[in-house]
Amino acid sequence: MQSIRVFAPGAADVLKFTEVEIAEPERDQVQVKVSLAGVNFIDVYHRRGQYPIPMPESLGSGIGIEGIGELSDGRAVFWLSALGSYAQYINIPETQLTGLPESSLTNEEILPLLCQGMTAHYLVDSAYAVKEGEWALVTAAAGGVGLILTQLLKNRGAHVIALASTPERAEIAKAHGADLVGTYKQIKELTRQATNGAGVEVVFDSVGKDYFDECLEALAPAGMYILYGGASGPVPPFDLMRLNAKSLGIRRPTLATYSATAPERLRRLSELIKLTEGGKLRYPATKVFPLDRAQNAHELLESRTYSGKIGLNPWRI
Ligand SMILES: NC(=O)c1ccc[n+]([C@@H]2O[C@H](COP(=O)([O-])OP(=O)(O)OC[C@H]3O[C@@H](n4cnc5c(N)ncnc54)[C@H](OP(=O)(O)O)[C@@H]3O)[C@@H](O)[C@H]2O)c1
Repeated sequence: MQSIRVFAPGAADVLKFTEVEIAEPERDQVQVKVSLAGVNFIDVYHRRGQYPIPMPESLGSGIGIEGIGELSDGRAVFWLSALGSYAQYINIPETQLTGLPESSLTNEEILPLLCQGMTAHYLVDSAYAVKEGEWALVTAAAGGVGLILTQLLKNRGAHVIALASTPERAEIAKAHGADLVGTYKQIKELTRQATNGAGVEVVFDSVGKDYFDECLEALAPAGMYILYGGASGPVPPFDLMRLNAKSLGIRRPTLATYSATAPERLRRLSELIKLTEGGKLRYPATKVFPLDRAQNAHELLESRTYSGKIGLNPWRI
């Protein structure tokens, strides 16, 4: 079968289009024909070696964690955390597979609702239960998770300050419902303007290192800082006493915790599908690359010029 393999960490050109044998599934695994694989920022962290995966890879491992596919009996399934999804077939532990709920959406429309949608969902639903009238500050708001996060916050009655790297990207967040938008350099000014100097109740940050200090300063007393990514690099270790002056909270959540069981995954995805079908959640059309152009897909994701979901079709080469 055709697949993408990584033999050493590095830039996007380490993604190699490679013919490999389809391995027999192990005892707890099921073989799935991959229809569409998602491209996520975590794949970039894996490729760069920022989150280490086995390299040079052993047989059967690979890159890509998310996908939609078909079992041998024709049932449609999805998964969120199985390495090796950039391939025509993947063997996955049965416990990680979930049946795709019935809906009017296509696979391309469902793909953004998997890792990205479910992350946004658990962030506002479980990592921090957002309340009506609260102010939230969202970084990387024009990105995949960011666009959905902004809309879910608005659906729950919160107010949103959305930040991006350029004014043009900030406008994309505005078009998806954010109340106040700007660039990262404007964190202080926008927070003051929105809250009269009181600060925001919650920050959802996936940029990490570059604006950590500014994000902490933007919080109101007893505010909560949720760090769910590190696109600019990991936040260096810091003194917990810095939280003391305003009784701040910090949480570093991961989707794995909040999608551990099939019923939980199904609940989150079903809610997102319902919102989409009801017109309460909008997302740009997924850009699908053929599998042998995985390198271009990563370059686009890292370019910071794109807003929306990127997928790989392993059967269009
Ligand atoms: N913890 C979890 O459970 C979880 C689950 C899924 C995803 N995530 C994280 O959520 C974030 C968003 O994921 P996504 O797949 O939707 O990606 P994405 O938002 O489409 O891409 C990342 C965004 O980060 C911003 N960014 C800021 N500094 C950057 C830098 N130095 N290099 C590159 N980008 C930078 C870019 O927007 P601007 O150019 O506008 O700044 C870019 O759009 C990622 O950091 C990912 O790791 C976390």
